Amino acid sequence: MTDILGVIGHPINHSMSPVFQQAALDHLGINKIFEKWEVTPENLEGKIKSFRNNSFIASCVTLPHKQNVIPLIDDLTDSAKSIGAVNWIYKNNNKLVGDNTDSTGFIRALTEKYNFIPEDKTALVFGAGGASRAIIFGLIKSGVKKIILSNRNFDKADIVSKELSTNKVKIEPIIYTRDSLANYAPYSDIIINTTSLGMAGGPAPMKTPITSDLISSTTFGYDIVYSPLITPFIKEFEKSGAEYGTGLSMLLYQGVEGIEKALNIKAPINVMQKALDAL
Ligand code: ATR
Repeated sequence: MTDILGVIGHPINHSMSPVFQQAALDHLGINKIFEKWEVTPENLEGKIKSFRNNSFIASCVTLPHKQNVIPLIDDLTDSAKSIGAVNWIYKNNNKLVGDNTDSTGFIRALTEKYNFIPEDKTALVFGAGGASRAIIFGLIKSGVKKIILSNRNFDKADIVSKELSTNKVKIEPIIYTRDSLANYAPYSDIIINTTSLGMAGGPAPMKTPITSDLISSTTFGYDIVYSPLITPFIKEFEKSGAEYGTGLSMLLYQGVEGIEKALNIKAPINVMQKALDAL
């Protein structure tokens, strides 16, 4: 039986992971298949049970399962524990181990693709969900100086701030109004959108959490939304003459980190990037 890897999510049709992961496996001559598994919340427990079969190697985990898989697996890495979300499951000595590479994937995208070094920088983050927690965790690990956190629901921002602040980095939750943002956005080195605003097929595809009048041309913008590639948020950075990074880079690097750990290999990043570009 061929060993398998895959991705679970619902809906999963749009997932680009199988394409760029299979390209990596084929390029390296690794005889394994990377599949796409449509798994509804009701079927999650059964699917995770099937991961205990011998042919299973690893799986990517995407929405809406990133938190719900936690009680169904055996162990968590430190990052998955701190972030409270899993985006990869590996089989390790017959145990299912949950990891979070969204965090390291984001930082590698920033540093390797865009040459933005978070150390000693001030970051403004929009959103307080699982993606936000992974990004904040990564920024803190990379030596960021200060994090400002803005979310529509202030209480959620407050909770994330309390849970993820460290002795060195205090996260400051702020309310999600134009007046409040005006005090912080123009002075931030990087502004990151982790909300679903601007996402095609999402709740608000035409919206952006910030407009160009509050963006300095020296601030770097990053949107984790990658469909469309140029989101309303990114367009505001273009208008300000500021540099920016697009979310496909985080998708790529979380996958690079995951496949490297799952198979103990060096991922062919250029091959994976090319496969993504061709989509
Ligand atoms: P993920 O795990 O991908 O981060 P999530 O936990 O559902 O997804 O979080 C989505 C984020 O997008 C939240 O910060 C949410 O804000 P609320 O906490 O106030 O719900 C934000 N979001 C979604 N729709 C929004 C909208 N129309 N305006 C502002 N923020 C929105």
